[in-house]
Amino acid sequence: MKNSPRLLFLLHQTLLKFAKEHLDDPEEDWENVIWSDETKIEHFGKHSTRRVWRTKNAELHPKNTIPTVKHGGGNIILWGYFSAKGTGRLIRVKERMNGAMYREILSENLLPSARALKMKRGWVFQHDNDPKHTTRATKEWLHKKHFKVLEWPSQSPDLNPIEHLWRELKVCVAQQQPQNITALEEICMEEWAKIPATVCENLVKHLTYVIANNGYITKY
Ligand SMILES: *[C@@H]1O[C@H](CO)[C@@H](O)[C@H](O)[C@H]1NC(C)=O
Repeated sequence: MKNSPRLLFLLHQTLLKFAKEHLDDPEEDWENVIWSDETKIEHFGKHSTRRVWRTKNAELHPKNTIPTVKHGGGNIILWGYFSAKGTGRLIRVKERMNGAMYREILSENLLPSARALKMKRGWVFQHDNDPKHTTRATKEWLHKKHFKVLEWPSQSPDLNPIEHLWRELKVCVAQQQPQNITALEEICMEEWAKIPATVCENLVKHLTYVIANNGYITKY
């Protein structure tokens, strides 16, 4: 879907506001955030490849291509957590998620991810403004559990650094050409865990850079 000029304007206004509010935050604050989001991973067929954009010069390198979709390939939905210190838990969501399921995923995975990532006292949780996340019951649940939540600008998926991790994950997984959905899930879990901490750290650093530039999105 193409963004209309009106939407882009609103988007930029929101980001600008967000950037202004966070301009003075020390960089360490951003290192103490757990980012989260969901993604859909397609199961691709075995042969024939298509290019995936990465960087200008690496475009044609075979390692940056992913196989094209075969009919009936199917897909899986994943929910993941990460911080500047590395990747946290990755969970496969098998049903259409509702508020209750969302809270269950949080209760089973957020704290273990925070512990594994050795988050410092006062760490903050980020999720986007999907209705499942902002519903009263979820807000109350987060409050009751004393989780601090980052106020997130609406309609700004590009700002979430996890989007770039999803892209990284999809490229790595596709290279292994999983044969079926079970294999796809296993490979996703393995590859997610293997993403180097430096990649995560750089994404968070890039965000501080975006914020310092008043919310203008720059290329990673
Ligand atoms: C899925 O693929 C894996 C690896 O290629 C294979 O070992 C496994 O038997 C397959 N499972 C099914 C259900 O086809």
